[in-house]
Amino acid sequence: MEATTEATTEATTGATTGATTGATTNATMEATVIETTALSKRVTDAVGTLTILDDIDLVVRARETVAVVGASGSGKSTLLGLLAGLDRATSGTVALLGQDLGALDEDGRARLRARRVGFVFQSFQLLGHLNALENVMLPLELAGADGARDKARAMLAQVGLATRERHYPKTLSGGEQQRVALARAFVGEPTILFADEPTGSLDATTGDGVMDLIFALNRTLGSTLVMVTHDARIAARCGRRITLAGGRIVPTTD
Ligand SMILES: Nc1ncnc2c1ncn2[C@@H]1O[C@H](COP(=O)(O)OP(=O)(O)OP(=O)(O)O)[C@@H](O)[C@H]1O
Ligand SMILES: [Mg+2]
Repeated sequence: MEATTEATTEATTGATTGATTGATTNATMEATVIETTALSKRVTDAVGTLTILDDIDLVVRARETVAVVGASGSGKSTLLGLLAGLDRATSGTVALLGQDLGALDEDGRARLRARRVGFVFQSFQLLGHLNALENVMLPLELAGADGARDKARAMLAQVGLATRERHYPKTLSGGEQQRVALARAFVGEPTILFADEPTGSLDATTGDGVMDLIFALNRTLGSTLVMVTHDARIAARCGRRITLAGGRIVPTTD
């Protein structure tokens, strides 16, 4: 299919929709890519109801780099899952690229993710029976894009793994596996990249290299980055920090 044309049209219409539904009245401001209102997540079991996220109001604009920080168990991964449409809110709304995620069914959310969203996780989550190149090609093939092999090769080269195309994940180091995962996340030129502790399983030096790549690819593609991290140095590299505590956003001055 005309992947490039469609992606470009999508990006344009998505940004326009986001701008009109967002809170901004200033035409010079970047479009809103994520907007939540009174977003809450509660889980109920035999013992009672646990409020994981409570009344979260959040706006993220195009090209922002946002770090989500907070103690273990404060709800960071839950928030990321809700923003990305991987999980459903108990109450409140999430608009992703101008689309109300609560109004989309599972297929609709999956389509939006496939076209516009990239993910990177702490645990890489590569498919063990596919080699590096096949892992990177996968999202393009699922989206029915043309030229998947060439695009995947070019992206693997960008993350410095041109000579490792045929390696299977278990024969790659942790840092190499995460670079394959980055290539897979960015190959579809996502509008938004969500990353949940992307360097959490790597040593400091390898992690720094992976972070450099994330920021560089993000800049090159003009995408928006929302990243959970426990590392204050990484959080400091982001344009904005959001701190969660007790299921709420802690007001900060920056
Ligand atoms: N499906 C669920 N059922 C019950 N409790 C859940 C569920 N999902 C998350 N929780 C609880 O919600 C809280 C927040 O979890 P979450 O994984 O979002 O934390 P986090 O901030 O990402 O923590 P970490 O830094 O350890 O990754 C935790 O106490 C967790 O046990
Ligand atoms: Mg987490």
